[in-house]
Amino acid sequence: MAKKKATVFVCQNCGYESPKYLGKCPSCGSWNQMVEEKLPDKTDSRSRVTISGKTSKAEPITDITIEKEERVKTDLTEFNRVLGGGVVPGSLVLIGGDPGIGKSTLLLQVSAQLNQNGGKVLYVSGEESASQIKMRAERLELRGSDFYLYAETEVSAIQETIEELKPDYVVIDSIQTMHHAGIDSASGSVSQVRESTSTLMQIAKMNDIAIFIVGHVTKEGAIAGPRMLEHMVDTVLYFEGERHHTFRILRAVKNRFGSTNEIGIFEMKNGGLEEVLNPSQLFLEERLSGATGSAVVAAMEGTRPILVEIQSLISPTVFGNAKRTASGLDYSRVSLIMAVLEKRAGLLLQNQDAYLKAAGGVKLDEPAIDLSIAISIASSYKEKETRPTDCFIGEIGLTGEIRRVSKIDQRVNEAAKLGFKRVFLPKNNMDGWDFPENIEIIGCTTLADAIRRAFS
Ligand code: TYD
Ligand code: MG
Repeated sequence: MAKKKATVFVCQNCGYESPKYLGKCPSCGSWNQMVEEKLPDKTDSRSRVTISGKTSKAEPITDITIEKEERVKTDLTEFNRVLGGGVVPGSLVLIGGDPGIGKSTLLLQVSAQLNQNGGKVLYVSGEESASQIKMRAERLELRGSDFYLYAETEVSAIQETIEELKPDYVVIDSIQTMHHAGIDSASGSVSQVRESTSTLMQIAKMNDIAIFIVGHVTKEGAIAGPRMLEHMVDTVLYFEGERHHTFRILRAVKNRFGSTNEIGIFEMKNGGLEEVLNPSQLFLEERLSGATGSAVVAAMEGTRPILVEIQSLISPTVFGNAKRTASGLDYSRVSLIMAVLEKRAGLLLQNQDAYLKAAGGVKLDEPAIDLSIAISIASSYKEKETRPTDCFIGEIGLTGEIRRVSKIDQRVNEAAKLGFKRVFLPKNNMDGWDFPENIEIIGCTTLADAIRRAFS
């Protein structure tokens, strides 16, 4: 009787492997994520021999010559910047984002430009047929001679095609649709994604081909499939934006060839994605100029800084108890800040209704947003507007002091990048880092001090 192929239970969240089923993953703590998968054949899939026949070997460090890292620039300067200055040959770049956000459109445009700059491009799609992609390319008015479209999901077939065509750039749209013949489990499972990516990585490294991989994002905002996907690639970019708005933000969350925290802003138009070269406008456009009750904060979303407008409406209570609501903000935090405003900054808020909102539907939950909440409340209460290019960062303590926050440099850089002119921040946060040149830093010690200076 043939021996049954060994199986292993793999956590679909983090990639943890266990010989038996477990309800809760001991590695990442998630429930019901264990799926039985067949073990790959160790011999074929782990081979280090590449399509060009080269193998890698250990060399003394003194013998290794440093190859000059040449970057290829596209015409999309925002895209170049996020990559750290252009496309690095032989790099593996993962682009994640919600469905329909514009990942395929972006990569199609980037492919066409790399092609125009003399590169040979292979665009592999597991989601659309070649004629669908062609239709889209026509709509975007993209054309080129050495630009190949290929509708395929089998990694070995893709590998053969790469061997034949010898392209400079490859796009894989998307990794969740790819299938590696050595693995029995379904496309999109942890082992499939891992094996497909590892094959693609070998192709990229050994042949100096830059490969862009599209990855879908789950509801929680992580790239679907294993975390390890992010560890394997050189660069991870997220393409974000609201489906019903036309603006899109491309962010680097990991980059072996440049800094993270770079963002590129695009607008989705009928003719494809266009760069937004003056991003501050984007954020100021939505804000009413001269409106009271508005303050902008540079908040951290996970590892990423984002700028959000906090809006307040304070109006006298007509009858009974004062009404208080907060959407996108923690209600108890808002109550606390109102109490501090009352006690330490002399604002009479007890007979006022207060409605607060984090604009754009985001949810903010970190202490650094306190100051912007307080300033927006004060602005509405005093009926004095803040300057549209002011940004407020800081935690508020119960004695009315402004307390130090984390990652101040990232927040301020983000504000500077987006065109803000002044940033109010905790005085204690002013040491130990370099301010960006084009922004004025205002260190505050107390809430009363910050309010006085913001409305003077
Ligand atoms: P797409 O690139 O297919 O998204 P993804 O690959 O991330 O799933 O983008 C699809 C959306 O973009 C679709 O809703 C239509 C819109 N779109 C435009 O508005 N203008 C365009 O020129 C193109 C190509 C798409
Ligand atoms: Mg797509």
